[in-house]
Amino acid sequence: MSNHIIPYQHQISQSDRTAIKQHQPLLIWLTGLSGSGKSTIANTLERRLNKEFGLHTYLLDGDNIRIGLNADLGFSDTDREENIRRIGEVAKLMVDAGLIVITAFISPFQRDRDRVRTLLPAGQFWEVYVECPLEICEQRDPKRLYAKARLGQIPEFTGVTSPYESPHNPELVLHTARDPLEDCVNHIIQKMIEEQIIKTVN
Ligand code: ADX
Repeated sequence: MSNHIIPYQHQISQSDRTAIKQHQPLLIWLTGLSGSGKSTIANTLERRLNKEFGLHTYLLDGDNIRIGLNADLGFSDTDREENIRRIGEVAKLMVDAGLIVITAFISPFQRDRDRVRTLLPAGQFWEVYVECPLEICEQRDPKRLYAKARLGQIPEFTGVTSPYESPHNPELVLHTARDPLEDCVNHIIQKMIEEQIIKTVN
């Protein structure tokens, strides 16, 4: 990075943007194995926040971001680190814009998730562990990727030939093998209400 970059102090801050919204800005960071249910939860959560609560959300989702912004990245440890770094920076801007941002990425390394946390103001990053045993993810195998990974056709596949580090101290843990989808989404919404990120609908 150049030594000659001097950030400009803008006149409108996050709190000015929040003042004209019906909610507090937040990054809901879903992490978990492939097939654990991150995208399903993220989609249902976003639909409910939009349709039931009328809130301004945005969803950043693994495969979609890897088609565009991060199309140059693969699945080595360093590429995953860069994947999460860029997504963290994008999410940070969107949260600064005042949105409720939901992300759905495996994000296998604790260090990378911790780094995103440090980018955001205190309390505006929730690490949500979408917990599901590997055997169940592998049985579900919605994209038939575990089967291919077991056959050696996909190198460095998370849970098979690449590690996943469970969150040390997440804000929330959702058990998708045990609880129905609606319950998992309700846990997040309940916490958002408790922490006064959103208000109940009248
Ligand atoms: S992350 O590890 O860098 O956070 P990310 O969430 O962006 O991963 O992408 C994961 C998605 O990419 C998986 O849901 C799966 O569809 C696909 N994928 C392709 N190759 C791999 C691989 N080697 N490991 C994990 N996921 C893979």
